[in-house]
Amino acid sequence: MSPYRYTAQASTSSASDTEALGFALGCCLRLGDVVSLNGDLGAGKTVFTKGVARALGIEAPITSPTFTLANQYQGSSMLHHLDVYRLAGPEEAYDLALDELYESGVTIVEWGDIIAEELPPDAMRIDLRIELEPVVPPGGGGPAQPVDDPNQAWEDLDSGRRIDLIGIGPRWENRAAELDSALAPWRNEGGPGSPGEASC
Ligand SMILES: Nc1ncnc2c1ncn2[C@@H]1O[C@H](COP(=O)(O)OP(=O)(O)OP(=O)(O)O)[C@@H](O)[C@H]1O
Ligand SMILES: [Mg+2]
Repeated sequence: MSPYRYTAQASTSSASDTEALGFALGCCLRLGDVVSLNGDLGAGKTVFTKGVARALGIEAPITSPTFTLANQYQGSSMLHHLDVYRLAGPEEAYDLALDELYESGVTIVEWGDIIAEELPPDAMRIDLRIELEPVVPPGGGGPAQPVDDPNQAWEDLDSGRRIDLIGIGPRWENRAAELDSALAPWRNEGGPGSPGEASC
């Protein structure tokens, strides 16, 4: 029998909306959970993680660990925030003692696919995709074109994100109803989710 798969599709309309979605998911996370975040540069992985951190009661500013590889924050449980963009592959993750990290808190891994073999099989996988929106070319003439370089064009702007979540195995099966209700405001393109809650 194939293992249980929890799946959800969400959309967000701004950075703060993505952070609010991260908060909603963070309220469902427990000690030992691992979340692998994937998506292009600027897709919103760190923004999402900020929401998770806030749900764990962490008030410290969350900065991208692109150079440090791993940051740790103490909240209602420990948050390990990893960014493995600079690793060439899973073998380079050896020094991070990942199994011990996973046991001792909630772990979020930006660019998790790079170390896919070192992730637990029941890590939740979240893919963030920038939704390109047509823009009117400079000068206003001609038909609207999709943006060529979304990172450049949208650096400080809010735009849509499509966010897919997949969790395999009993870890997520046991929480499916909780996840469904937490993520409901962002599913089915129903407009912006609930604005940032103060606590879970
Ligand atoms: N709907 C949205 N959700 C998330 N971020 C958005 C959204 N719309 C615009 N943004 C902007 O996109 C950027 C996302 O940056 P962020 O650092 O979270 O990306 P990242 O995926 O962590 O990138 P990197 O791979 O470089 O770590 C921010 O500047 C944010 O303001
Ligand atoms: Mg990041």
